[in-house]
Amino acid sequence: MRVAMIGTGYVGLVSGACFADFGHVVTCVDKDASKIERLKNGIMPIYEPGLDDLVASNVKEERLFFTTDAADAIKDADAVFIAVGTPSRRGDGHADLSYVYAAAEEIAGLMDGFTVVVTKSTVPVGTGDEVEEIIRKARPDGDFAVVSNPEFLREGAAIKDFKIPDRVVVGTDDERARQLMRELYRPLFLNETPILFTERRTSELIKYAANAFLAVKITFINEMADLCEKVGANVQEVSRGIGLDNRIGRKFLNAGPGYGGSCFPKDTLALTKTANDAGAPVRIVDTVVAVNAARKKAMAAKIIGAMGGDVKGKTIGVLGLAFKQNTDDMRDAPSLDILPALMAAGAKVRAFDPEAMTEAGHLLEGVEFASSPYAAIQGADAMVIITEWDQFRALDFDRVKAALNSNIVVDLRNIYSPEDMAARGFAYTSIGRP
Ligand code: UGA
Repeated sequence: MRVAMIGTGYVGLVSGACFADFGHVVTCVDKDASKIERLKNGIMPIYEPGLDDLVASNVKEERLFFTTDAADAIKDADAVFIAVGTPSRRGDGHADLSYVYAAAEEIAGLMDGFTVVVTKSTVPVGTGDEVEEIIRKARPDGDFAVVSNPEFLREGAAIKDFKIPDRVVVGTDDERARQLMRELYRPLFLNETPILFTERRTSELIKYAANAFLAVKITFINEMADLCEKVGANVQEVSRGIGLDNRIGRKFLNAGPGYGGSCFPKDTLALTKTANDAGAPVRIVDTVVAVNAARKKAMAAKIIGAMGGDVKGKTIGVLGLAFKQNTDDMRDAPSLDILPALMAAGAKVRAFDPEAMTEAGHLLEGVEFASSPYAAIQGADAMVIITEWDQFRALDFDRVKAALNSNIVVDLRNIYSPEDMAARGFAYTSIGRP
């Protein structure tokens, strides 16, 4: 089967490489010529574990191609995926669909023979109808179907999530399109992945509902953590205690500094806009959006409190800047709220992140970047963990002690045990644990 993937962002590139690995012939198209050139040379535009090897092996097998020229890719394709960005529109938080519609126009002009146009970008309910109309207008007698096929990949675990997903959702009422999508995902039938066929609007909403539900879950446990701190309970044990109930489930119950990333903040906001416009507000998600924004801001005060209430002239060694581990993505990362607030309170910040420092350099003015965790905390008045990279779990605490100018450790990801840290002589503050 021949696939064209429009957009080589995180979703397009991972999906394209994985479809090629399934045995399909995939051409990834992007307007950014330098990105395509780098991809042709095996240089990945994002940090994603395993992606470079997957791309290299499929390029070698001549199943994966990169081009700036959409014409051939689309003309020959059985399926054309739209995997372009849908950022929050400045000013109102609605998803900006201009790239999706531009892709639809382009596909309309180039498709040849029966073509399934698949929207993988996260798009509000009804976008598929709009895409269909755009193509129909340009090609009144065109033979095509527009399908919704949302992605549920997590950054940092994207390849595994693509190849061993909990489910695949396909929204269409066109039988030929259904057959083609079944064929595309055929390797997943072997491990009995549920493939859920729905109506297109339902599929579009499933994506937002899934992300919003996970954001609610995280925000719920974050507020439980605040309560635990007030009443002397342990949020990790609360998570375990409720998560063992299968109706609740154990995943996504880790309290932290608030969710960030390219998806939850944007998608929760877009869902509330859609819901308000439709006259069916989702008040729980409205609240989650507000609580999470406030939480990210409150984390700086927590750090300052742990340092005695005044950080003027003090140095803070920060470990972790990315919005979570195993990514270099800084979008809506809690560090973007926390570090400027610490500096505004008079602190000097020295930070280390294994992958995100290049990106962070453009976003965090005034922060000094260090070449290792130990260099970040050398002579600092506190060590603060903001992202849960594995390498921070395995620090040499004798070196930490020797490097720090105090014994203060603030851990916003609960990666150490309070008992252990106390036994080592640290003044240790974490999230929702006595
Ligand atoms: C999320 C979803 O998990 C994916 O299923 C979805 O496909 C993706 O958005 C998307 O819409 O593209 P991602 O943003 O990569 O994936 O990251 P997550 O692992 O979901 O983490 C999101 C945020 O929640 C991070 O800031 C993370 O630190 C935080 N989080 C997650 C917690 O604070 N606690 C948890 O227990 C889990």
